[in-house]
Amino acid sequence: MFLGMNIITAQGAMWRKHRRIVRPAFGTDLYKLVWNKTLEIYRDMLQVEEWKDKNFVDVPAVQQITHKLAFLLISTCGFGFASTWDTPPRATDGGMPIQEALKIVAENSNLTAVPKWLWYLPITRLRIARFARDRLRTFMHEQLIERKAMVAAGDIRADAFSIMVKANQDESTYKLDDEEVIGNTFIFLFTGHETTASSLAATVGYMAIHDDIQEEVVEQIMSVLGADRDPDYSDYLKLDKVLAIFYEATRMTPPGHALIRQATEDTVLTVQNPMGEEGSKNIPIPKGTEITLDMVGVQYNPRYFEDPKTYRPSRWYGLPADSEQFSAFSVGPRACLGRKFATVEATCFLALLLRDWQVLPVLRAGETKEAWGARVMNDTHIAITLTVADFPVKLVRRRPV
Ligand code: HEM
Repeated sequence: MFLGMNIITAQGAMWRKHRRIVRPAFGTDLYKLVWNKTLEIYRDMLQVEEWKDKNFVDVPAVQQITHKLAFLLISTCGFGFASTWDTPPRATDGGMPIQEALKIVAENSNLTAVPKWLWYLPITRLRIARFARDRLRTFMHEQLIERKAMVAAGDIRADAFSIMVKANQDESTYKLDDEEVIGNTFIFLFTGHETTASSLAATVGYMAIHDDIQEEVVEQIMSVLGADRDPDYSDYLKLDKVLAIFYEATRMTPPGHALIRQATEDTVLTVQNPMGEEGSKNIPIPKGTEITLDMVGVQYNPRYFEDPKTYRPSRWYGLPADSEQFSAFSVGPRACLGRKFATVEATCFLALLLRDWQVLPVLRAGETKEAWGARVMNDTHIAITLTVADFPVKLVRRRPV
């Protein structure tokens, strides 16, 4: 494990130890921080991207915006790093930006795991990946030293990293070592931004195709927030239609596309026969067998979803925000710890974006909206998480300046 054992890779008693230290980091103070930072970063983005005084904006690559947003959010709220839209976090020597290093490590995660001697081969890609990995490691060590000193001095911030370091410091029996704290730090940085960024990009894409849904959601945003008021964390639960457009995009392109489990004892799985066939079959699973759960299959199963290939956010209207009926964050003890982090961020960002702008597709000559939807939204690939390929949209200001 190149960045230390962590909550995702740990199993059994080791996982319980990690979860015990990591869990306290996710509480109301963090979610309020996520909400307020999303608002701040949205305003910063308008300024830096020079959208502020424009009535029309061409966004060449939606993913670039959502990735930057999600990365800044996890950097500031996950770690308390000082970063703004045009100054991403860097290690103290000012070298390769951390987002760049993280991207290279993520894209080359198979390379960073190769035996050490291979790093000395004169292969540029390997060298760059190794360089990026070392940068991340240095950055995270620096951050950990700094945070431990702050916590020891009683300066405890609301970000997830500070709370995790504090929980570890207070723990007597199940303490994580430095490598393990860094492992979890990396996992937050990575899972906390790729996933949310992909789902947000997909949501924007679906809005570009479905004007009717977009208008219905904007109506709710206007009735809750009005035209000018800054959204407050207390608005989160009132914006259930905004959450629903994000849920439905996440269902249709679930970033966590495969869940891997290992049987800890001999067992038997009872599986229902396909729709339309009565009965079920029993599949014996010997201890030690690894099972991959196809999350895409679950999210498109007609047994659970009527007309599963149709984007229909109304499936989720009025659903309690933490309901296990929505399963793309997984359910049970190993369900996503960052679910509320992601949904608070998404609800605030989408409410701000859709209140200000109408989202339109950028059609090719002669292309219909439906054809655009089929071309863009079905162009998915797996970059560790499942994601739609990058695409452009046009934004039209709802109240011209
Ligand atoms: C749309 C956004 C997200 C989706 C769809 C998503 C999905 C998932 C899924 C399906 C799992 C279960 C994986 C498994 O059991 O193998 C998971 C676990 C996890 N997620 Fe997320 N996630 C999202 C955002 C986040 C964010 C923002 C964070 C952190 C800030 C985060 C942190 C975690 C952690 C720590 C786990 C491991 C929990 C454990 O094993 O105890 N996720 N996520």
